[in-house]
This record gives sequence, C-alpha cells and structure tokens, in this order.
Amino acid sequence: MKPVVTGNPAEVRVSVIGTGYLGATHAAALASLGHQVVGIDSNPERIGLLRQGRAPFHEPGLDDLLAAGVRRGTLTFATEARAAADAEVHFLCVGTPQQAGSHAADLSALHAAVDALAPVLERPSLVVGKSTVPVGTAPALRDRLRAQAPVGEGAGLAWNPEFLREGHAVEDSLHPDRLVFGVESDHDDQTLRSVYAPIVAAGTPVVRTDLATAELAKVSANVMLAARISLVNVLAEVCEATGADVADLRRILGLDARIGDRFLEPGLGFGGGCLPKDTRAFAARAEELGLGAPVTVIREVDTLNMRQRSRTIDLAVELLGGRPDGKRIAVLGAAFKAGSDDVRDSPALDVAATLRARGAEVHLYDPRAGANAARVVPGLRVADSVDEALRDAELVLVLTEWDEFRGLDPVALLDVVRTPSVLDGRLVLDPDKWRAAGWRFRALGRAA
Ligand SMILES: NC(=O)c1ccc[n+]([C@@H]2O[C@H](COP(=O)([O-])OP(=O)(O)OC[C@H]3O[C@@H](n4cnc5c(N)ncnc54)[C@H](O)[C@@H]3O)[C@@H](O)[C@H]2O)c1
Repeated sequence: MKPVVTGNPAEVRVSVIGTGYLGATHAAALASLGHQVVGIDSNPERIGLLRQGRAPFHEPGLDDLLAAGVRRGTLTFATEARAAADAEVHFLCVGTPQQAGSHAADLSALHAAVDALAPVLERPSLVVGKSTVPVGTAPALRDRLRAQAPVGEGAGLAWNPEFLREGHAVEDSLHPDRLVFGVESDHDDQTLRSVYAPIVAAGTPVVRTDLATAELAKVSANVMLAARISLVNVLAEVCEATGADVADLRRILGLDARIGDRFLEPGLGFGGGCLPKDTRAFAARAEELGLGAPVTVIREVDTLNMRQRSRTIDLAVELLGGRPDGKRIAVLGAAFKAGSDDVRDSPALDVAATLRARGAEVHLYDPRAGANAARVVPGLRVADSVDEALRDAELVLVLTEWDEFRGLDPVALLDVVRTPSVLDGRLVLDPDKWRAAGWRFRALGRAA
C-alpha cells in the first residue's frame, strides 16, 4: 500500500523529528505554509522553549514564525515519537555529527529516530530524510524502517536535503534556491510536491532525482564551498608574502562571472556544524568506496582550513612578543560566522580557547554567541560590549565578521586598550585607517 496524503490538499499532517537549527526552522516554515506540524525532539528543554513559541537559538525571524504557528495551533511539540503516529509525512532532521575518533559521520541519532518512529506508525506514510548523510545511507534506513514498521512496505523513504544557511534559515526555508527530491516513485514525488506546494508554485526549481544523488547533493555543495574558501586562502597567503592587495584581488576575481563574489572571503576559514564535518565525512565515505586517491584534494581542503587557525594563533603570539601567558587580550567574535550564535567548530572560539590554554587572559565579546562560548570554553571572560572586552587589552583579535566590528572607530579605541595592536582575522577592518590612527595592524592575507 502506498502512502497517501489525505484531507485538504493544501494541508498535510507532518512530523519533524529533531528540532535543532534545521528542524525547528523547517517545522515553523511548514506550519506557516498551512500544514499541521508536530516537532519532536529528545531534548525536553528545547521542546519546552519551542512550545512557548521561542527559538532555542538565534535565528532572525524564527521566533515570530514559531509563535504564530503555536498561537494558531498548527504547530505543536513533543518529546515522544508516538506524537508523530498520525502524520502522513515525517521529516528526519536529527544531527549527523562527526564520529568521535574518526572523520566519518555518526548516524546513531538517525538510527534512533527511525527505531522510535517505525513501531508507532499508524498509517502508510512517507519518511523523508533532511539530515546531511553519507551516500548510501537512505536505502539502509528504508530497510530498517520497513523491518520495524507495522505498515511494512507502506512506509516509503525519500531524501530531501536541506541547503539553508544559519543566519538566513527562515528566508532560505521559505524561498530556497532549489528543492531536491530524491524519490523512488511518482507517488513520493507528488507527496513532496504537496508539502512544498506554495514554494513550488512560486517557481522554485525542483530537481527530482534518485536517493543517492539527493544524499550527495548537500555534501557536494559543502565540499565545493569549503574548497573555494581554502583556495582563496591560498591566494591570500601569497598576497601576504608578496605585498599584493588581497581585497583588490578578491574584487577582481569576484567580477569574473564564472567565479562570482560570494563565498570568496579570505581569512580565518570555515567552521560551524556543517562544512567541516561534511567535508570530512565526504572524504571518509569516498575512501570506504575505494576512492581514496581522488579525494586527497578534499583532505587538503580541510588541512588548509585548519592551518588558518594555527597561523592566526602564531601571529597573535608574535604580536604579544612571543609570550601569550599572563597577557590580557580581547577577542571580538565567537560565532562561527556573523548572524548566528552557533559556536560548533567555530574558528574564532578555537583560537580564543587555544590562546587561553596558553595562558592568555581572554576577554571575549560577541553580539550573540557570548553565552554559548562561555558554556563551551570555561575560563573565558565574556564581556557585554566591545569596550568592556578591549579595556586594557594588549592585543585585539577580530575573528567573526559581524558588521558591528567593521564600524569600529580606531581613534576612540586608543583610549580603551593598553597597547594599540590589532589582528584582523576576517579582513573586515581598513588597514590604512587603523595604521593612521596609530595601531600596529596585522591581518591574514595582508603584508606586515
Ligand atoms: N544547521 C544547519 O545550517 C544545517 C543546514 C542544512 C543541513 N543540516 C543538517 O541537518 C542535520 C541537523 O543539524 P542541526 O544543525 O539542526 O543540528 P542540531 O544539533 O541543532 O539539532 C539536532 C536535534 O536533533 C535532536 N535529536 C537527536 N537525536 C534525536 C532523536 N533520536 N529523536 C529526536 N530528536 C533527536 C537533538 O536533541 C537536537 O535538538 C545535520 O545532519 C546537519 O548536517 C544543518
């Protein structure tokens, strides 16, 4: 028996399993499209906040979207999988982090989600993976699902990878560049088209494909983006060594229509909950498939990226006269990128934590991610403002590209710090302006 979308064709009963950055946004977005949505998460604190219509993390517009769905009664939340029993479509949005001690993806949360969902399914329904997974995961999950579901063959499995960017998650969910439907039947394709009907009607390109291609879509996009960043960082290092102007070079490259100017920012490199682990998981999976030789380049992308962090630390130590211990330093930025409070694998926080471990007294300010930083790295002093972080500092490091930091006034800050020395890890400051104000200025990609 095939899964059937019933009732008002515009309204589908949907469950979203895992309500983190991806799932909470997806659940709120689907409720706003007119569906009846239940979000399920094993973390009761997260569910408690979501039930009040509050996002457990910073994401522009998400609180409003959640609150509207909760108020209308079309968006509910639960900690138990059985709350999903009646849904027609189930989206799997749990985490797929890097495995401890390996570069491969840890699929245990996906397995646990399927094992909890399968026995409670009351109707033939479609289970749709949205988490980012290694190619080959979906058929195994489909078999696992069918082996345990009372509805057996009636449980279909599709893959619908998610491309949202943190900091733009709501906008990207409601107005995506493309929708990818990895499906095994016309029926499953139609089911996904019903769920996304308003987005499809708005002209969003839909790529219908097989499961393997859909699984590969997201990791491939992240591998391409990661490679771009590491490559531009190689170019920046050559600029640094030769005195060429990295900002001009970036502009020249960006004006080439074949290259484009997005995702072309040199600096401290990429981080977050997706790019690093997806790049590693892609390489690990390719090696399992016997493709170790061609993916050497992907390993190199990761190595080059991590090198940006060690280069930043080395430069900071040099600016501190070779001895970071006992030195008071200000770190501006903890989030892995501007617009987010996410500090997972954050290059900024990694640098701050390493300098702290080497004895520096680190005063950190981030417009959104201070609390998360303090939780992850005990011993950091988290400030409430730029001025508080910079007070009596012997070195200032700018490590996340928040707009607030671009507009800093180097003249006014001379009175705040002890030593006017700054390291721009994100190329957001104007070197001429800072040098003219009397600062010792260094930046990755720029000559001393
Ligand atoms: N964050 C992003 O920007 C983004 C974008 C696209 C795709 N993705 C992918 O989406 C997936 C989720 O990422 P995220 O950033 O939302 O992670 P996250 O850690 O913020 O959220 C995962 C959630 O799943 C919950 N969970 C774990 N096991 C569960 C279970 N068995 N049952 C119910 N809930 C469970 C956790 O409590 C957590 O709330 C990953 O595969 C990621 O690669 C993330």
